[in-house]
Amino acid sequence: MIDLSPLDLWRRNPLQKILDTERRMREGAPRTARVVSIASGKGGTGKSVLATNLAVLRAQRGERVLLVDFDAGLANDHLLLGLAPSFDLGHVAEGRVGVGDALVEGPCGMRLLSGGVGRHGLANPTRRELERLFKALRPLEDEFDLILVDHGAGIAYSTLAHLAAATALIVVTSHEITGLSDAYALYKRGRMVNPELKVGMVFNRVPDVAAADSAWERFSGACKRFLGDVPTRIGTVPADSAVSESVDARVPVCVFAPGSRAARGLTEVSRWPQIDIARSVTAFYERASRALR
Ligand SMILES: Nc1ncnc2c1ncn2[C@@H]1O[C@H](COP(=O)(O)OP(=O)(O)O)[C@@H](O)[C@H]1O
Ligand SMILES: [Mg+2]
Repeated sequence: MIDLSPLDLWRRNPLQKILDTERRMREGAPRTARVVSIASGKGGTGKSVLATNLAVLRAQRGERVLLVDFDAGLANDHLLLGLAPSFDLGHVAEGRVGVGDALVEGPCGMRLLSGGVGRHGLANPTRRELERLFKALRPLEDEFDLILVDHGAGIAYSTLAHLAAATALIVVTSHEITGLSDAYALYKRGRMVNPELKVGMVFNRVPDVAAADSAWERFSGACKRFLGDVPTRIGTVPADSAVSESVDARVPVCVFAPGSRAARGLTEVSRWPQIDIARSVTAFYERASRALR
């Protein structure tokens, strides 16, 4: 059963939005958004499933959340959210639309900036193109509490530029040796470009907890031995048919089947304390631009 009622409630309840804004003002929330990157070494590990669900789960908590689909060229967050955006990052990069016009509203009031399908220029941007894009995205930091960036697999130039400026990174991996080895390479590069980076590891699509435990033992053992430190294990999401059903329904699993094992694992990830404290004094996109130089 698809139960969209919390979503509809949110949309129809402007009072809640006013109360939330007042709460934020009382709490003296910072003006600029917290920015959290979501990446993986290997492709198809479940980054987009995690990113879309995280965006919805955090929006359900009353945060103003923006998801930027930076898997440019192979973007599919809009599909997972059941959205059909008219504009995407490519249009923004080309200066054809203002960044505000490219945002679309998704479940629970979260917003998406889509990556666009087949935008190969954006998949391998030059330094100048990235710089222009970061400048265009900068105003968004004042409009949102949390910006989640869904990256393409691997260690692309644009991913490294984000990691150099980010305060938190979520690495999504399978429990298999290939996934672990690629996640290790990403972790190692992330620490190199940004020694302050807080890294959280998520094991996705695992057959059982024992498989994730044993993968974590191997992974953290290698990190300790060769790098001298380890990331934080922040959650385990089981392989769950509710996920593929939710993908088919184009509704994130945390709304489609909130009681499913996958939704519970994703909720655990959404509570990583670094997501709350990943704030910075200077603007993220300014630091990301500087990292390009
Ligand atoms: N926990 C899970 N259980 C079952 N299937 C999953 C799970 N996570 C992801 N999938 C499946 O894997 C596919 C790829 O996931 P996706 O998030 O698009 O990967 P990525 O963004 O890393 O390339 C999804 O379409 C979904 O069907
Ligand atoms: Mg993806």
